[in-house]
Amino acid sequence: MGQRPYGSKEESTGAEGAVTQDLTRSTIFAARDAEHFRAQAQGEGEFYPRYGHPNARTFEARMAALEGADGAVCFASGMATLHGVFCGLLQAGDTIACSRDVYGGTGDLLKHDLGRFGIEVRRFDPFSEEETVAAVQPPVKLVHVESPTNPLVRVVDLERVAGAAHAAGALLSVDATFVPPPLQRPLERGADLVVHSATKFLGGHHDVLGGVVSGRHEQLEMLEAFRRRTGAILGPDRAWLLTRSLDTLEVRVRHMCMTAARLASFLDGLRSEGGDIAAVHYPGLSRHPDFEIATRQMLMPGSMLAFEVKHGLEGATAVYDRLQRITRAPSLGGTESVALLPLYSSHAGLTPEERAEAGIADGLIRISVGLEPADELEADLAQALQV
Ligand SMILES: Cc1ncc(COP(=O)(O)O)c(C=O)c1O
Repeated sequence: MGQRPYGSKEESTGAEGAVTQDLTRSTIFAARDAEHFRAQAQGEGEFYPRYGHPNARTFEARMAALEGADGAVCFASGMATLHGVFCGLLQAGDTIACSRDVYGGTGDLLKHDLGRFGIEVRRFDPFSEEETVAAVQPPVKLVHVESPTNPLVRVVDLERVAGAAHAAGALLSVDATFVPPPLQRPLERGADLVVHSATKFLGGHHDVLGGVVSGRHEQLEMLEAFRRRTGAILGPDRAWLLTRSLDTLEVRVRHMCMTAARLASFLDGLRSEGGDIAAVHYPGLSRHPDFEIATRQMLMPGSMLAFEVKHGLEGATAVYDRLQRITRAPSLGGTESVALLPLYSSHAGLTPEERAEAGIADGLIRISVGLEPADELEADLAQALQV
C-alpha cells in the first residue's frame, strides 16, 4: 500500500534517527529496477516532487496534528491554497457562498476568476443570521468565511455557519489565518476545511511564503490531485522552514496575544479619556461586539488589533508616520510588529460608500503585534499619538 501523496497525522517522514527534519531537494528519486519504477509512478515512495515530497509531507503531518485533521495539503502561497480549495472542489454550474468580509485577494479571485469558469458566487454578511440563512441554501456547495476578519477583527460564530452550511448540504471552509492553531481550531467547530496563509503566523518571521489546507481525506484527495495537475505545491526549502517554525508557533502566538491585549487596553484607555482615538477593535476587549463568541471559540483573542484615529486619513497618517519601533509594512503574524493603513492597502479598491458600509474608517490603522518587549511597543504608540 503506497503512502498518501500528502501528509496525514499518522505519518511523518524523515531519516531514521534524525532529531530535526532533513531537507530533501532532489527532484528525482532513483528506482532499483523496472518494477520499483512502476511502483513509484503509482505513488509508492518518492517519485517526483510535484506529486508530493518529504518536506511537504512532514509539514502537512504537523499541521494535521495541530488542527485535529485527517491530513493537510500545502501550496505555494495562501492564494494558491484558496484557488485550490475553490477550483479543486467546485465545477462549472456550482455555487459558492462567501462571506463579504474576506481578504481582498480572495474577493478578487472570486470576482475575476471563478465566474469565468462558470462558478456562481454569492456574498453574504456572516454576522447577520438572516443574510446567512438566505444565502446558504441549495444549490450552494461550498461556504467560505474568514475568522477573525480583516481589519476589524470580527469573530464569526463558526458553529452557527457550519450548521447552516450542512443543513444546505454544503461544506464549510474557514480561512483562519488571523489566529492559528492551537488557539483556534475551526474543525472542532464544525468546519470541513481550514485554510491558512502560512506566510503569516505559521511561518512567523516574515521570510517565507506558503499556504496550507487541512481537513478530511475525501476532500484532501481531490485537493492533492488538483495541486498535482496545476503544479502549485510548496517547495522543499519553504516546507522545511515552515515545519521548523511550527516548533515555536504556540509560544510565539501566546506571547504576542498577551502583548496585543496590553496594547489594546492602553489604546482603549486613551479612547475613553477622550484622546485622539475614536475606536479600538480587539476581540479581547469586553466592548468588542464579538467578545463572547471570541471567548468561547478561541483560547486567546489573537494578536491583531486595529484602532481608528480621529480626523480621518490626515490624523492616521500623522500617527503612522511617527511610528518608530513598529514597522510600516503589510502582512502580519511575524516576530516584527507591523502597521498598515487599510485605506491604502487591503481596502483601496473599495469606493468610499463600500468602505463606509464595511465599517472601514479612513483613519484606521491595523497592527500585527510581534515579539518586541511590550513596554517598547506601548511607548512607541504613546509617542506616535503624542500622549
Ligand atoms: C486572511 C488572508 N488569507 C489569505 C491571504 C493570502 O495569503 P498569501 O499572501 O500567502 O497568498 C492573506 C494575505 O494577506 C490573508 O490575510
